Amino acid sequence: MVTYKQQFKFKSNDFINKVYLITGANRGLGRSLSIDLSKAGATVVMLGRDLASLENVYDEITDLGYSEPFLYPFDLEGAGPKDYEDLLTNIESEFGQLDGLIHNAATIGSLMPIEQYDLKVWFSTMQINLNAPFLLTQFLLPALKKSPAAQIIFLSSYVGRFPKAYWGAYSVTKSGIESLSSILAEELEKTEIKVNSIDPMRMKTKMRQIAYPAENADKNPDPSDVSKVILFVLSSEACHDSGDQLTIDVLSD
Ligand SMILES: NC(=O)c1ccc[n+]([C@@H]2O[C@H](COP(=O)([O-])OP(=O)(O)OC[C@H]3O[C@@H](n4cnc5c(N)ncnc54)[C@H](OP(=O)(O)O)[C@@H]3O)[C@@H](O)[C@H]2O)c1
Repeated sequence: MVTYKQQFKFKSNDFINKVYLITGANRGLGRSLSIDLSKAGATVVMLGRDLASLENVYDEITDLGYSEPFLYPFDLEGAGPKDYEDLLTNIESEFGQLDGLIHNAATIGSLMPIEQYDLKVWFSTMQINLNAPFLLTQFLLPALKKSPAAQIIFLSSYVGRFPKAYWGAYSVTKSGIESLSSILAEELEKTEIKVNSIDPMRMKTKMRQIAYPAENADKNPDPSDVSKVILFVLSSEACHDSGDQLTIDVLSD
C-alpha cells in the first residue's frame, strides 16, 4: 500500500502527446481528471453516457486553451461486446495506441441490508462498477499494448478494501475491482503496462452527497485536489510498482 498526499505534484512533461481514456468524464473526479490531463498536454477520450454534460466539460477545456479532448458517448450499463469492439476500432484508427485507461465511473447503488437489497439495483451496480471495467480492459488491451508505457487505474474505495454492513453491491464491486486489479497486474507483469487501484478517499461529489446526505459537504476535498495527485501517480516521478493498492490522502500533511 502506498499513500500519496497533496504535496505530490508532477513536474515532468510526461503527458504531452499521450492518450488517456477516462470513464465517467462528465462530472466529479472524472471531470477534474479530464481537465488536468488536458492541461498537462494529453488527449483525453472522455467517455460518459450524458452527451450534454460531456460537451460542457469539452467547452471548459477548449476555452482554457488546453489539449482538445475526444468525446465518446457510451452507457456502461447497456453496452454490449459490439460497442466495446467499435470503441477499440475508433481509438486505434484515431490515435494508434492508448497510454492510459482510468476506470473512474461508478454508481453507489443502494445503501441497505443484503436481505432487502433491490435486485435491479444489485445487477446494474455489478454491470457499471465491475463488469464494464472488465469488458473495457479486455477489449482495449490491444491498444494499451501498443504504448511503450501504459497504465490502467481502477478507482476503488475504503469499503472495497474493508467491506462494511449496508454498503451492499457497491462494496462488493469495489472488492471485485481490487481483485481484478491484482490479477491483471500479475498477468501483465512481463508487459509495459502498469496496473494499480486507487482509493481517492472522500471527495465533494454527487456520490459522496448520496452516501452521506447529512454531512457538511464543504469539509470534503474538491475532486480537483485529488486529480492533481493522481497525475503525479501517473507520472514517471511516482514511486510505486504495478499491482499496488494506492491511496490519495489530501486531508493530512
Ligand atoms: N466521492 C467519494 O467520496 C469517493 C470515495 C471513494 C471512492 N470513490 C470512487 O471514485 C470514483 C469517482 O467518484 P465520484 O465521486 O466522482 O462519483 P460521481 O460524482 O457520482 O460520478 C460518477 C460518474 O460515473 C458515471 N456513470 C455512472 N453510471 C454510468 C453509466 N452507466 N455509464 C457511463 N457513466 C456512468 C456518472 O455519469 P452520469 O453523470 O451520467 O451519472 C459520473 O460521471 C468512483 O469510482 C467512486 O467509486 C469516490
